[in-house]
Amino acid sequence: MFSKTFFFALIPSILAASFSVSVGSKNGLTFDPTSVVADIGDTIIFTVLSRNHSITSADFSGAVCPPPAGGAGLNPFDSGYLSDLDGSLPTFTYTVPSTEPQFAACMQAGGAHCRAGMTFAINPNSTLTYAQFNTNAANS
Ligand SMILES: *[C@@H]1O[C@H](CO)[C@@H](O)[C@H](O)[C@H]1NC(C)=O
Ligand SMILES: *[C@@H]1O[C@H](CO)[C@@H](O)[C@H](O)[C@H]1NC(C)=O
Repeated sequence: MFSKTFFFALIPSILAASFSVSVGSKNGLTFDPTSVVADIGDTIIFTVLSRNHSITSADFSGAVCPPPAGGAGLNPFDSGYLSDLDGSLPTFTYTVPSTEPQFAACMQAGGAHCRAGMTFAINPNSTLTYAQFNTNAANS
């Protein structure tokens, strides 16, 4: 028989969802999808499909682009540079720590990718929307 502790320890991994996000699909400066709605403990698997990009947490507004190495915001994260120039399709897995809105972008090319729309949102809400974040990035 399983102990209670063992049983309850299993619940989060049973219920956790996993999201797949394409980075640089069709050689574009894109994240696809551009946002996900995730619970604590869910994982987001980013796969770099072209060039050399990063998935780096960013501030919602202000000097959005480029996000700093190590990331910005509430729960900073940064994949570092992941290059598919050798066709290796590198991945970065992020475990969502909070249901608060979080934003991310590519830090490559001094922020040029970020300003061109290479932006991503986790749990955007009606105040902190993905569309507004992307506009803030374009104007930063
Ligand atoms: C990826 O980009 C970074 C930053 O521009 C650079 O330092 C690194 O050498 C690049 N990696 C490859 C394999 O080109
Ligand atoms: C959206 O999230 C921010 C940050 O947590 C929060 O301050 C704001 O109240 C939220 N907006 C709505 C409509 O829930």
